[in-house]
Amino acid sequence: MRHRPRRLRSTPHLREAVAETRVAVAQLIQPHFVLEGRDRVEPIPSMPGIERQSVDALVRRVERDLELGIRSAILFGVPDGPKDATGSHSHAPNALVPRAVEALRKSFGRDLVLYCDVCLCAYTDHGHCGVLAEGGVVDNDRSLEPLAKQAVACAAAGADFVAPSDMMDGRVGAIREALDRASFPSTGILAYSAKYASAYYGPFRDAAHSAPASGDRRSYQMDPRNAREALREAALDEAEGADVLMVKPALAYLDVIAAVRARTSLPVAAYNVSGEYSMVKVAAAAGWIDERAVVLENLTGIVRAGANLVLTYHAREARERGWL
Ligand code: PBG
Ligand code: ZN
Repeated sequence: MRHRPRRLRSTPHLREAVAETRVAVAQLIQPHFVLEGRDRVEPIPSMPGIERQSVDALVRRVERDLELGIRSAILFGVPDGPKDATGSHSHAPNALVPRAVEALRKSFGRDLVLYCDVCLCAYTDHGHCGVLAEGGVVDNDRSLEPLAKQAVACAAAGADFVAPSDMMDGRVGAIREALDRASFPSTGILAYSAKYASAYYGPFRDAAHSAPASGDRRSYQMDPRNAREALREAALDEAEGADVLMVKPALAYLDVIAAVRARTSLPVAAYNVSGEYSMVKVAAAAGWIDERAVVLENLTGIVRAGANLVLTYHAREARERGWL
């Protein structure tokens, strides 16, 4: 036998030397849920190890993450209210997420790469990601202005990137234009380009209290059966000025990550979402899987598929426990 692929697998050092994929902590982005008030830390039952926290507690948490080498964070606001039809409190004076951004920037300067999720669902009284028109239909074009205002508020507070997750058509272009007009040409856009209508968001909606009061998100988020359409979304976002293209969720969509990676020269991000996280945590707690091995296999698979950045709730624990 001339060909023996096993030769390259014979010792750990050799396997390490020929490994095709490596996951670096610099690629990981840790998500945070931000609360109003002071000194509040609320565990999220469906996401063991993840908490909602007020800005002061968030600053202390991010300080520890930085010590662990986790230099990237994305913020999701969980306001106590008031909520209204257009989600206007996302960009009100002294709004929650911009306040968190200011506090983090003041404490850590440019040591932290800071992303802000931009969406209306946590701020609207109906819980949809856009503004509603007659009959409960999400009105695409009327949603663009509040989204752009939210993005500008985050940029003004010092965010490095805004990350629109609403899936309205044209929002990347509208946000880019609004940022430039408000003199934030250096603030980037990480676009949730291919965001699927996924059952894997269940724990997040519980964490962020952002489930729609009626209906579902299938008229704006993508149909899980479609991959070509993801390439169209990615191309549009790139043309509208996105700096990073994201696929979400990650694990059931590795083919989409690979296809987007093959067609753009921009960095590609993947969101290892709440349901993907919680399934690992619950199986590990039951003793049914080796958590370290499964987390590394999942993150490696996402990176092997082509993701350059990975948003993952596993980031902190992977560092704390020395997995990465
Ligand atoms: C809100 C938003 C969601 C997630 C990120 N931003 C939920 C949704 O669209 O319903 C999901 C993140 C996760 O599940 O970890 N637009
Ligand atoms: Zn939303």
